[in-house]
Amino acid sequence: NVNRRTAAPITSQFPYSGAKSNGLPGLGKGNVLVPDPADTAHAFQPPPPGAMRGPCPGMNALANHGFISRDGITTFDELVQAQQNVWNTGYDLAVLLATLGVALDGDILTEKLSIGGDATPKTALLGLGLLGKEGGLDTHNTFEADASLTRSDFFLPSSNGDNHSFNSTLFAMMTSTVSSTSSPSAPLYDLKGLSLYRAQRWSQSVAENPNFYFGPKALLLYGAATFLYELYPTNGGLPDKSTFESFFGAVPSSTSPSGYTSQPERIPPSWFSRSTPYTIPDVAIQILEMYTGNPVLFGGNTANGSFDAIFTDDGLISDGRLSADVTGTQLACLIYQLVATDETPDSLSNILKLPIEILNFITGKLNPIFEPLGCPLNTD
Ligand code: HEM
Ligand SMILES: *[C@@H]1O[C@H](CO)[C@@H](O)[C@H](O)[C@H]1NC(C)=O
Ligand SMILES: *[C@@H]1O[C@H](CO)[C@@H](O)[C@H](O)[C@H]1NC(C)=O
Ligand SMILES: *[C@@H]1O[C@H](CO)[C@@H](O)[C@H](O)[C@H]1NC(C)=O
Repeated sequence: NVNRRTAAPITSQFPYSGAKSNGLPGLGKGNVLVPDPADTAHAFQPPPPGAMRGPCPGMNALANHGFISRDGITTFDELVQAQQNVWNTGYDLAVLLATLGVALDGDILTEKLSIGGDATPKTALLGLGLLGKEGGLDTHNTFEADASLTRSDFFLPSSNGDNHSFNSTLFAMMTSTVSSTSSPSAPLYDLKGLSLYRAQRWSQSVAENPNFYFGPKALLLYGAATFLYELYPTNGGLPDKSTFESFFGAVPSSTSPSGYTSQPERIPPSWFSRSTPYTIPDVAIQILEMYTGNPVLFGGNTANGSFDAIFTDDGLISDGRLSADVTGTQLACLIYQLVATDETPDSLSNILKLPIEILNFITGKLNPIFEPLGCPLNTD
C-alpha cells in the first residue's frame, strides 16, 4: 500500500492542459503536444512486471506513459489530473469517470483503484473494502460490461476469467463496420460507424451470451465509444486508422487470422490534444446521437437469443428504449440518477446494491458537477 509508485509529476516545463496533482480543474488548454518528446518522464514504456492493465484502453495508455502510476494502481486525483492533461477532457467529465471507477471498483477511503484486476491489498486500508474484495476495473457489471467494442463478454466460454484483454477479432469487426459507412480504404471511426457497430455488438451478445446484461448504465459504454472520435484524433481532426491502432494497441499482421496482433496501448507520435475541453453536456449529446442512430433495447438474456427488455415508466426509458424526445440535459441528469441514486432501473435485476457509504461518496463528488446542469440532486 505505502509502496505505491506514483505518476511521474507534471512540471512547470511541461504543464500540458494545466491540471495539477490536487484533483482540481486545470486550465483546459488544448492543442498541446502530448507527451512532449523532451518530457522523458512521460515517454512510453511497456507495463513493468506485475503491473495491472484492464478493459479501458484509455487508462492503459495513461499508465504506459506514466500519467497515472505505471503499476496500474492509481488514485482519484491522478485520474482527474491525467484525463485533463492528456485528452483535455472537461473537469466535470474527468470527475464523473474517476468517481465511477473509484466508487464501483476501488476504495472510497484511500481513493485508490486498480485499472485491471483485484489488487485489494494495495487499494484498501484494512485489507478489505466495503464491498469486500476490490476487483478493480476488471470487475464485471459494475463499470465493465457486455457488448464492449473490443473486449469479449465476460461469460462467453472463450473469455471466461480473462482480464478483459484486447480482442483483435473484434477490432477487425469494428474496422470493417466503420469502413462500410466511410471509405473502405480510409475508414473513419466516427459517430455513424460506431453507432452501427454498437448495435451489431448488442445483437451478437443477444445471440451468443446467455448471461448478456445491458442495463441503462450501458449508456456509459456509448460515452466511451464517443471518445474514439472526440478524444483520440490528433488536434481534434479525423478519427483515422493509424491513430486507432496506436491507442488500441492493434498491430496489423498478415500472419494473424484476425489481421492484427496486439501490443501495449500508446499515444501516437506527434499527437496533439483536442482544442476545447470535452464536457458532460458535450458527451450527453453524442451519446444520444449514437444511441438513436441505431437504437437497441435495455434488458438482459434469459438464454441465448431470449432477451427480456427492462420496462420503466420514468418518461426517459419506456418499453425498454430511450424515448425519442430526450434532450441532452435530460440524458446527463439520467446518467447522474443511474449512478448516484439507488432508484435506478438496474434495481429490477440482481445487480449489486450499493451501500450508503459508497452512495454518499458518489453524491459528494458528483453533486457539485451536476448542480450547474440543473439536475435534481440526491441530497440524503
Ligand atoms: C477515470 C477515468 C476512466 C475510467 C475509470 C474508465 C473505465 C473504463 C471501463 C471500466 C471500461 C470498460 C467498459 C466496457 O466494458 O465496455 C472503459 C472502456 C473504454 N474506455 Fe475508459 N475509463 C476512463 C476514461 C477514459 C478515457 C479518458 C478514455 C479515452 C480517452 C477512455 C477510453 C475508453 C474506450 C475507448 C473504451 C472502450 C473499450 C472497448 O470497448 O474496447 N476511457 N473505460
Ligand atoms: C474474440 O472475439 C471473437 C468474436 O466474437 C470470438 O469468436 C473469440 O472467441 C474472441 N476471443 C477471445 C480470446 O475471447
Ligand atoms: C490476469 O492478470 C493476472 C495479473 O496480471 C495474471 O496473473 C493472470 O494470469 C491473468 N489471467 C488471464 C486469464 O489472463
Ligand atoms: C450460446 O451461443 C454460443 C455462440 O454460438 C455458444 O458457444 C454457446 O454454447 C451457447 N450457449 C448456450 C447455453 O446455448
